[in-house]
Amino acid sequence: MNGLQLIATGGALPGRTVTNEDLSRVVDTSDEWITTRTGIRTRHWCTEGESAATLAIAAARQALERSGLAPEQIACCVCATLSAPDATPSVACQVQRALGLPEDRPALDVNAACSGFVYGTAVARGLLTTLGGQYALVVGCEALSRLMDPTDRSTCVLFGDGAGAAVYALADTPFAITLGARGNDAIHAGGPDRAGSAPITMDGKAVFRFAVDALPKSLNKVLAETGLTLDDLGWVVCHQANSRIIDHCIKHLNADPAKFYKNMDRHGNTSAASIPVALNELAEAGKLTPGQRVACIGFGGGLTWGGMILTYKG
Ligand code: COA
Repeated sequence: MNGLQLIATGGALPGRTVTNEDLSRVVDTSDEWITTRTGIRTRHWCTEGESAATLAIAAARQALERSGLAPEQIACCVCATLSAPDATPSVACQVQRALGLPEDRPALDVNAACSGFVYGTAVARGLLTTLGGQYALVVGCEALSRLMDPTDRSTCVLFGDGAGAAVYALADTPFAITLGARGNDAIHAGGPDRAGSAPITMDGKAVFRFAVDALPKSLNKVLAETGLTLDDLGWVVCHQANSRIIDHCIKHLNADPAKFYKNMDRHGNTSAASIPVALNELAEAGKLTPGQRVACIGFGGGLTWGGMILTYKG
């Protein structure tokens, strides 16, 4: 069995909602500037007690409950994040402990920035096929508000916090995954040596050019590998960085805009969390139907990119 089926999702958003109006009282910006350039209207930021780990645990717990599986059936736990609160224990180990997942299984974090959920899914599938087991838990979780300079208008309007989780099953269903990386500082955030002095910076125009190239290429690649066409897909769930990036891709592919899910208006760019948060919203709204094929495309810091096609079991 080489494919992955999505069998359940979960999500968690932090407690503080920040509108464009709120930001325009802190930095020199406006609702009009932010919405026309990005499509973002509100985002959620962590309150004091919240972190990428607390959000990951809440999302993972919900996905596990909805899957109907026992913790013992989960063969691996992979968390994608670039904003883990601790260098160790990893977020995945914190999820393992909180959910009571068995100890004789791997739990690890993956950092591929906004492509992290696709990378994490590839890692989980690799673990299932090398170590055995049928079910994997993959989480995308971020607290980007902790990495930002809240006074830098070029970045603070873009990013939000959140977590989404997926429980997958190995299955004989059409599946393809593609990943890529190009070391580049166009998006940068400081690590331990620079904490506090190097918040997120971004060359917005360069990243835009990169994204509108990587997105359709990744989508076309996984379509070609599965032998599917856009018509065969129920949804295309892209990383929710910017509405204009997705619109550009729709135009380039001459695709049906209704297939491309968007929620950045409510959540902003939540990096590794954006795709699983979107999948969870679709599932909760009953818009994912059993048997539907879904493409997920991530792109962002690293630079990294990744695309996959999987089937929703529901
Ligand atoms: N409000 C008001 N003005 C702002 C602003 C804000 N929040 N942020 C930047 N500006 C200003 C700049 O200072 C600049 O002013 P100047 O002309 O006086 O120097 C002007 O707006 C244009 O800035 P620029 O950075 O060239 O804007 P842009 O049209 O490229 O839009 C982005 C900026 C970030 C919206 C755009 O580049 C983008 O969408 N990039 C992709 C980013 C992305 O999605 N990254 C994540 C990928 S994972």
